[in-house]
Amino acid sequence: MYQLLMNLCINAGQAMGESGELTITLTPVPEGETDKAAVCLQVADTGPGMEQAVLDRLFEPLFTTRYDQGGSGIGLMVVQSIVQNHGGWITVDSRPGEGTAFRVFLPVGSGEWVPVPEAALQEAME
Ligand SMILES: Nc1ncnc2c1ncn2[C@@H]1O[C@H](COP(=O)(O)OP(=O)(O)OP(=O)(O)O)[C@@H](O)[C@H]1O
Ligand SMILES: [Mg+2]
Repeated sequence: MYQLLMNLCINAGQAMGESGELTITLTPVPEGETDKAAVCLQVADTGPGMEQAVLDRLFEPLFTTRYDQGGSGIGLMVVQSIVQNHGGWITVDSRPGEGTAFRVFLPVGSGEWVPVPEAALQEAME
């Protein structure tokens, strides 16, 4: 999740350049709106947005419009695979001049909490 969030936020930052607004929101998806109960993690920016030609190729491995600035086109490919590994899905809302919103939908479980083993907690704190 950390890697997913970092990739989306770095992209937003790079798109906005000197100034802009980055908004991260986590909201439950109302029941009935999707097949499964889910939460929506949205990363939105007020950057330049994307043209359809870019949107069409967005998750393609090695697709980048930032080749000159050292972009490798790996970021969103990784985001896509992390989302899939969690059984989720991702949507993009973007238009030239109107900013971009990536929404990551993650299914929520049965509602039972699974305790994190003490050793794993210790390791995470280090
Ligand atoms: N928030 C955004 N606003 C505008 N364009 C975006 C945004 N996020 C991604 N893009 C476009 O999608 C392309 C692919 O993104 P991706 O993260 O996969 O690669 P990258 O950022 O170019 O390179 P890398 O992540 O490997 O450093 C970017 O080059 C850019 O054109
Ligand atoms: Mg990137």
